[in-house]
Amino acid sequence: MPNGESQLLRTKSIDKLIADSEDPQSRLKKTLGPWSLTALGIGAIIGSGIFVLTGTAAAGEYYKAPSILNAQVMDLLVNLLRYHSTAHVLEHGRPAAGPAIALSFILVALACSFAGLCYAELASMIPIAGSAYTYSYATLGEIFAWIIGWDLILEYAVSNIAVAVGFGGYFKDALQNFHINLPDRWSIPVIADGHLTGAWFNVPAFLVVFVLTVLLIQGIRESAETNNVMVGIKIAAILTFIVAGGMLVNPANWHPFAPNGFAGVVTGGAIIFFTYIGFDSVSTAAEESTNPQRDLPFGIIASLVVCTVLYVGVAIVLLGMMKYTTFMSGTPAGDAPVGYALRHLHANHVLQAIIIIGAIMGMLSSLLVFQYGQTRIWFAMSRDGLLPKLFSKVHPRFKTPHWSTWIAGAAVGIPAGIIDIGTAADLSNIGTLFAFVLVSLGVILLRRRQPERPRGFRVPLVPWFPLISIAFCVVLMTGLTVLTWIRFVGWLAIGLVIYFSYSRKRSEFYQPRKAAALSK
Ligand code: ALA
Repeated sequence: MPNGESQLLRTKSIDKLIADSEDPQSRLKKTLGPWSLTALGIGAIIGSGIFVLTGTAAAGEYYKAPSILNAQVMDLLVNLLRYHSTAHVLEHGRPAAGPAIALSFILVALACSFAGLCYAELASMIPIAGSAYTYSYATLGEIFAWIIGWDLILEYAVSNIAVAVGFGGYFKDALQNFHINLPDRWSIPVIADGHLTGAWFNVPAFLVVFVLTVLLIQGIRESAETNNVMVGIKIAAILTFIVAGGMLVNPANWHPFAPNGFAGVVTGGAIIFFTYIGFDSVSTAAEESTNPQRDLPFGIIASLVVCTVLYVGVAIVLLGMMKYTTFMSGTPAGDAPVGYALRHLHANHVLQAIIIIGAIMGMLSSLLVFQYGQTRIWFAMSRDGLLPKLFSKVHPRFKTPHWSTWIAGAAVGIPAGIIDIGTAADLSNIGTLFAFVLVSLGVILLRRRQPERPRGFRVPLVPWFPLISIAFCVVLMTGLTVLTWIRFVGWLAIGLVIYFSYSRKRSEFYQPRKAAALSK
């Protein structure tokens, strides 16, 4: 048995990781080129966020928080330092960004690009499945790899719960346009805001995950092609909105442009961060990419650029169509700002239908990529012995990790049938930001430890760029509530219990002879 402490910090040799991925027993098919990877990124990034959060983030929010648990961590820290009390924290107001939410999109895109560059360097250097999990195994050590792998479940599975619930809502809404009313008992969350709603199960939210699971098991080639089509449709729908909505703009609505200055822009950014989650999932497809060194950085950055242009366009048009104050959360305008503005300004019915279908497609392709990414991370963790071997079994005919895919389907589909969107989205934000921090740290460490290793892509100005990325992430994390932080720490604690009681002893590093070979 190896010395416990050294096992925890043991890093896996990158050469060995690459060799493992070549093992014919668990080898994945290499089919994805640069544009498929970009489409994979866009598919993941544009989900429900742009169609739901743009309005509420622009409108701001004023409420009395029911308890200190609902206060933002940043607010709490500022109040403690300034007034030595938490009294002001509960009288909480989130300053409106106003039309300047367009700037929030640019700001968050900038923050994500720093993290994206770090992902690109590690992905081009360690081009194998598992994303941040694999990078941490090669840079920070087994315990960090486990923590990040466990944390990534929040980014992939939990955010997909949120998107599936959003899909269910839009789907129900779209059917109502055809006078088909799904019974609430079978089509809304069972628990919302901590209360039972009287519903039994949210069938549309569950069913969409189930259907995509079956599609993913059939194979990545078919799924990537389906994804390409869906991405095309949603980009077309967003462009349709920009053009059609653009004709309904009243420039007076753009004044005042930034009612709360920079504070509004930053708080708006903390909310719309959710809309960018997903660009990093391109890196989870490293093993199925035909030329990872060249195509992964391309896919990550290109998908980020395309989405930023579309998001800024939607924000400028939407906030020009109606005054930002219209979109207060908890109102029909806040729940579905894009649809509301079009309906309210009597846009053409065909155009409205195109945009709703686009929104639904957007959610579908986002769901698809996240389900895919989740299974590839489990696949890598299982191959390392940290999860049961079942997770890395490859289907004899389809060559996909079918067990992982089924388990991910159940882990996302069942909670999506039960819970509401808010809790899932917050948890997924904090989990993603934490993953970004570890990846950025990984770039700095690996430059020191293995400066000579070839990198298909290099982050400029290391360590400054990764440090800027870390700073951005920490600031955004403090924009989340105390309750979210407690849930996050609780989640990590459960992960550590599993690691010490199960995974550590089954890790390949547990056997001294194997461990020596692994870290060579
Ligand atoms: N970025 C994804 C969305 O906005 C998660 O839905």
